[in-house]
Amino acid sequence: MTVSRPAVLIDCDPGIDDCLALVYLAGLHHAGEIELVGVTTTAGNVEAFQTAANARWILDLCSLADVPVAPGQPGPLKVDLTTTPETHGPTGLGYATAPETAAAAVTAAGDRDWRQMWVEALEAHADLQLIVTGPVTNLAAFEETHSPAAAQFGAISIMGGAVNYRGNTTPTAEWNFWVDPHAAAQHFHAAAANVLTTLCSLEVTEQFLITPQRLEEIMEVLGEHPVTQILPEALRFYFEFHKAQGEGYQAQIHDLLTCMIALGKVDYAATETTMDVEAQSPLLRGTSVADLRDHWGRADNACLVTSADIEAAHQEFARGCALLASH
Ligand code: RIB
Ligand code: CA
Repeated sequence: MTVSRPAVLIDCDPGIDDCLALVYLAGLHHAGEIELVGVTTTAGNVEAFQTAANARWILDLCSLADVPVAPGQPGPLKVDLTTTPETHGPTGLGYATAPETAAAAVTAAGDRDWRQMWVEALEAHADLQLIVTGPVTNLAAFEETHSPAAAQFGAISIMGGAVNYRGNTTPTAEWNFWVDPHAAAQHFHAAAANVLTTLCSLEVTEQFLITPQRLEEIMEVLGEHPVTQILPEALRFYFEFHKAQGEGYQAQIHDLLTCMIALGKVDYAATETTMDVEAQSPLLRGTSVADLRDHWGRADNACLVTSADIEAAHQEFARGCALLASH
């Protein structure tokens, strides 16, 4: 029996934890466990073009120059763009900086519109998996022009939100949903009944912490792989940020865990529910709500992840890096 290789499209905002997610996906791609069909990027951690240049650099270092990268929408649907260089560094990869050649490659591929990449990927892959690890801007914009877009994907997984849990951007909001609250709200309102979005929110993803010790082990596994040019300097910045936030000298790797859950590579628990996101209130902007007791009587639109095997996720990242190092 042939096991099909899931086709994966990731929409991300590298971003240091997005970077680790791309490294992991590259390992699975080289091993034939997935087909990484394309990468689009959003404005979030840093501006959209910079996130694309970062993604291009990471993929090129992972010998994936043939995987297309395209910057998506320049900013949120309605609110002004806010970026977070204090979290991910001035260019989004901590103390590491993508070379000019990466930006030039993104410019050179400029005729490749991100929506066209999504359309072609959907036409070519019946069960295309979309993983979103930044603001939901591109997905919401795509749903505005290609409705019912959600129904066309085989699966959609998003890193975002904080459900009955303190926010990391305001007392109630997580960063991705705060940056573009209208996009997050619009997606959950547009969600198709047949494709429940797997939502990996802060109360689970904050548990996945990489420490200097874990990084050392990953660097050991990667050996001389070129992507080691990025990781230490990117993570050093991220460790310092988390320490300054009182989280200790370690880093939450939200987006990497989201990819593992999306691909079913680690055990996790989830509950089907109705999600909504506050987009009108300045005070509660980006707050995500799960109607866990069905007060609203609306159709479910999400599978909210409630727990995941974090130790297995650490082992899985090491496995993905070993696959990358051996190709
Ligand atoms: O709140 C965590 C999310 O915000 C992650 O996707 C991280 O990359 C930042 O974008
Ligand atoms: Ca991200």
